[in-house]
Amino acid sequence: MQNIEWGKLPFGYFKTDYNVRCYYRNGEWGEIEVSSSETVNLHMAASCLHYGQEAFEGMKAFKGKDGKIRLFRWEENAKRMQDSAKGVMMAVPPTELFHEMVKKAVKLNEKYVPPHGHGASLYIRPLLIGTGVQVGVSPAKEYMLIIFVLPVGPYFKEGFNPVSIQIARDFDRAAPQGTGSIKVGGNYAGSLVPSERAKSEGFASVLFLDAKENKYIDEAGPANFFGIKGNTYVTPKSTSILPSITNKSIVQLAEDEGLKVERRKVPVEELAEFDEVGACGTAAIISPIKKIVDRETGKTYEYCKDGNAGPISTKLYKKLQGIQYGDIVDPHGWVSFVE
Ligand SMILES: Cc1ncc(COP(=O)(O)O)c(C=O)c1O
Repeated sequence: MQNIEWGKLPFGYFKTDYNVRCYYRNGEWGEIEVSSSETVNLHMAASCLHYGQEAFEGMKAFKGKDGKIRLFRWEENAKRMQDSAKGVMMAVPPTELFHEMVKKAVKLNEKYVPPHGHGASLYIRPLLIGTGVQVGVSPAKEYMLIIFVLPVGPYFKEGFNPVSIQIARDFDRAAPQGTGSIKVGGNYAGSLVPSERAKSEGFASVLFLDAKENKYIDEAGPANFFGIKGNTYVTPKSTSILPSITNKSIVQLAEDEGLKVERRKVPVEELAEFDEVGACGTAAIISPIKKIVDRETGKTYEYCKDGNAGPISTKLYKKLQGIQYGDIVDPHGWVSFVE
């Protein structure tokens, strides 16, 4: 194993030693297999390649000061992968199978779990694909669940420093009655053009509005959006956003702190009323936002005027990270250990 500079890890692919795989054939899931290959052997007519029968998850393992490896709310990821599987008619991985595979993938690659104190973690990527041969448009009969892991640093190079994002009105991420609420690849394919354009224009990410009326805030790239106004935490309610496990956790922590929480439609103009805004998700946890520019109108909304994240975002971020790394008590039982 090469010497890893834990404090300098990017958020990108990193080869580890093993991955775990399980195949669904003849109507049932088989045994968990361990592989050290980075590739998968697929039939050219596999349904994942043609009809987008694929779903994935993103979750993290953290090492505490005590050296123990902690998984954060893995049950929620299992449940969301099951919802995604149902949403594109794939075989549904049982919760226990998912858990066993996650634990095994982490344990086998234990030496890649970043030590405590570098802000790094082990990213876990479960991937479910249709492997059955399918030429007409219908669901395959065979599937593969594969889980690989990699050590990662912060998602945005800015880390917990505020980023700028861009409203794109000429692209929709997902349709109101489409697949936006599940984690399937097609949603991300459709987001690449506006998101790369935003990056080329100097922004960290893109802010999508609702596809039907183009009036309400939907998703902040691959993350949920939130705004804080006085003592209230506001986050969009929409049928086309992915239910973020990070957001769900922050909502709980905000309530614990005595904040009022509102899940509702958030009109774009309301951006002018927030004291703090941010994006949240497993990869970045919380990305404070300092500037939002509406690409079409040029209208600009600014926050973090002193250059720093706002006090409430900072408090929620520290609390969530503290729980994940085992530095503070875990009052809601979100953390479980990989022994
Ligand atoms: C589109 C989208 N929204 C939100 C999120 C955040 O979800 P979570 O907090 O569960 O990682 C993600 C990342 O998984 C995402 O891809």
